Amino acid sequence: MNILLIGSGGREHALAWKLSQSPELGRLFAAPGNPGIAEHAECVALDVSDHEAVAAFCRRNEVSLVVVGPEVPLVAGLADDLRAAGLLVFGPSAAAARLEGSKGFTKDLCTLKDIPTAGYGRFAEREAARDYVERMGAPIVVKADGLAAGKGVTVAATLEEALEAVDAIFEGAPAGAEIVVEEFLEGEEASLFCLCDGEGAVVFGTAQDHKRVFDGDEGPNTGGMGAYSPAVPMDEETTARAMREIVVPTLAGMAEAGTPFSGVLYAGLMLTRDGPKLIEYNVRFGDPECQVLMMRLTDDLLPILLACARGDVSQVAPTWTREPALTVVMAAKGYPGTPARGGAIALPAEPEGTKIFHAGTARRGDALVADGGRVLNVTALGSTVREAAARAYGLVAQVDWADGFNRTDIGHRAIAAEGKAR
Ligand code: AMP
Ligand code: GLY
Repeated sequence: MNILLIGSGGREHALAWKLSQSPELGRLFAAPGNPGIAEHAECVALDVSDHEAVAAFCRRNEVSLVVVGPEVPLVAGLADDLRAAGLLVFGPSAAAARLEGSKGFTKDLCTLKDIPTAGYGRFAEREAARDYVERMGAPIVVKADGLAAGKGVTVAATLEEALEAVDAIFEGAPAGAEIVVEEFLEGEEASLFCLCDGEGAVVFGTAQDHKRVFDGDEGPNTGGMGAYSPAVPMDEETTARAMREIVVPTLAGMAEAGTPFSGVLYAGLMLTRDGPKLIEYNVRFGDPECQVLMMRLTDDLLPILLACARGDVSQVAPTWTREPALTVVMAAKGYPGTPARGGAIALPAEPEGTKIFHAGTARRGDALVADGGRVLNVTALGSTVREAAARAYGLVAQVDWADGFNRTDIGHRAIAAEGKAR
């Protein structure tokens, strides 16, 4: 079977690497891909926003399954148009992608289906939002509606900070801009991944990301600076509770509204004293969480994605190595602001059980250069999270790249928990 993979990040490199191991794979195309993906796929310069061009490419190249990595094309309705053209697609419709594309939509669904989440208000006017913030007091969370690549959220410790965030969103915002103001939730964060076919859902792993740019969870939010899987606090009971109280009613609500969700649903959870609460949904694999999931998956990925695209996940029962996986993001200096581009990178050999995924690289002649904010995802398995971290950081030290930086404490909570358990 020929497959077209949409995207160009570390997530898509991990998906390409895993798909390329499938005996059922014919040709793998990636649009646009990256130099890491190019080791497993034929990279094609398709304009992904031109849905008709993508469908025509699939017809010409006998592609029968399209796997959409990132959220932007999903929110733009790529999956709808490809399905209308008769293709199988892994990824939700635009209507179902609102679970990520509109925070207000998701909050309203939570109210409708009684799904545990932070208390909130939705506002289209600055003054009403300011009044609400003043009434609720700090700490409080201010979010721009719509996609913001992880950067539209302010967790405000003080009232001043919260009011500034409200002003910043409305200043220069297009007409119709909306914000969500939320109760501050306390607890540990974890991510739960589910494969969904419109009705049913199968758990597809857990992970913990590290969203702040600097060690000790300091500095601004990023797309994610490192992750490990499985998430230590997501034991069987907590996972079952999150499925029952959060994911299952969400899928029911989407189906009842005539917009069933298919693809991978990524629930960002806060594990509070009162149980798991939904922080946000994403309608795609996490990046870099996908990288650690793919390292641990012992099954062929192709039939799993295909089952999802065909609308029946009831037979999917994924199996994983017992070993945890951990990935360290190497980012270009300046990220999450403007990253330094063009610096030359020399990569070391990858020992068994490790993999360096390309997230933002390019080829310039024979040289590999940095070409993005998050550039490499250095990933390793280990018998413990501590060992996976030691192996990943051992490999990070061998990457020759002057403009890169990384957090040095990925997995710190899990490693501390392992220390206590011993
Ligand atoms: P989001 O883009 O909604 O995932 O928010 C980004 C980050 O902000 C999350 O990963 C949390 O660390 C934090 N955050 C979001 N909402 C809340 C909340 N209601 N309470 C506490 N922290 C939050
Ligand atoms: N790593 C966070 C995300 O993919 O949204």
